[in-house]
Amino acid sequence: MNKEVIPIKEITNFQSRAEEFFPIDWYKEMLHHHPVYYHEKTNTWNVFKYEDVKQVLSNYEFFSSEGSRTTIFVGANNKQEKPSPINITNMDPPQHRKSRSLLAAAFTPRSLKNWEPRIQQIAAELVEDIKENSDVNIVEALASPLPSLVIADLFGVPIQDRHQFKKWVDILFQPYDKERLEEIELEKQNAANEYFQYLYPIVVQKRLNLSDDIISDLIQVEVDGEKYTDEEIVQVTMLLLGAGVETTSHAIANTFYSFLYDDESLYGVLKNNLELVPHAVEEMLRYRFQMSRRDRTVKQDNNLLGVELKKGDVVIAWMSASNMDENMFDDPFSLDIHRSNNKKHLTFGNGPHFCLGAPLARLEMKIALEAFLQKFSRIEPVNEFELEKNLTASATGQSLTDLPMKVYK
Ligand code: HEM
Repeated sequence: MNKEVIPIKEITNFQSRAEEFFPIDWYKEMLHHHPVYYHEKTNTWNVFKYEDVKQVLSNYEFFSSEGSRTTIFVGANNKQEKPSPINITNMDPPQHRKSRSLLAAAFTPRSLKNWEPRIQQIAAELVEDIKENSDVNIVEALASPLPSLVIADLFGVPIQDRHQFKKWVDILFQPYDKERLEEIELEKQNAANEYFQYLYPIVVQKRLNLSDDIISDLIQVEVDGEKYTDEEIVQVTMLLLGAGVETTSHAIANTFYSFLYDDESLYGVLKNNLELVPHAVEEMLRYRFQMSRRDRTVKQDNNLLGVELKKGDVVIAWMSASNMDENMFDDPFSLDIHRSNNKKHLTFGNGPHFCLGAPLARLEMKIALEAFLQKFSRIEPVNEFELEKNLTASATGQSLTDLPMKVYK
């Protein structure tokens, strides 16, 4: 199905990349003055308050994931797969339940336990390569490579191919640029073909020789007599790459940005109290993960949001804004790793589509930070850094391309 793309920029009307990177003033304005906002030009309803966002994300009887308009741009003609066991993000329960159970086989708590040392090893190697007492671009050194190297390892991709794997991932999920739309589309198609040619034989081979990795889990899983085909498994790996690589990189990079520019004392506090790292991770997901949002289409007329919604209306749930709702979080516009309820943020969604990779993303963030904190005593910003020049359009809004900093032993 070709989905019509909603031009989200017309709703926000940000004046700079930096504003979009951290749109706290806009959220404040919308939360305080327009918590349920109809935007005429895009014909969308927009909700910002915590309870409303939660309702829109989770109440699938009224708010469907199966609409024909979306805020997510997936390609030049925005073709999204027709409903199939793979395309779980665009379906509602009960159909969604089965597809989700198939995929959930790869994300059990047991898997996570087994993955921990593997992720630690990858993080340790990346941190090891960062020179002491030097300037380092932490996006390039850690935030960008870690999630794709981790997922390559968890898929069971041979170690010598991991850097080639990362190159495909970088091309497949590079942002679209209006001036180079067709060129980028072609690059992506080529990378997708190469990726398929590469991974398909690995799946076939693993079927004969199962081991402890995500592809082997996906080969074995069976729900109500349904199993994935080899081709579907390759497609599922692509779905996981799309959902889990850029998002986790963004979260790690933004955490370092926060250490440098939100609260300079935080790095030292964590260095001396590593047990606080998981709290810091949650607070970063609440406060610094901009800008998480999802759309739903009204399934039946209702006024659950206090306005008359008609079947077919599109509602955009602004999760990052809801993470700053005063009714839910005390003093929400400030960063506080000690707040007791910061895990209640909606950055991973809510309800039936709640992020399947959330435990993995949390673990990667925790391990990346611990590995780094253990090696370096101090970090400092570099004088010449200009935020506006170091951002690029991404699935989340704006992501850091470079974040140079000084690191000390
Ligand atoms: C900081 C990192 C991440 C963030 C902020 C994030 C955010 C989200 C959100 C908001 C949703 C819900 C979508 C909706 O309600 O329509 C979602 C779904 C999903 N995420 Fe994540 N995600 C992250 C990392 C990951 C990782 C590491 C993986 C796996 C490798 C992953 C796999 C998925 C999948 C498969 C879904 C679809 C679930 C469904 O539709 O039932 N995500 N994610």
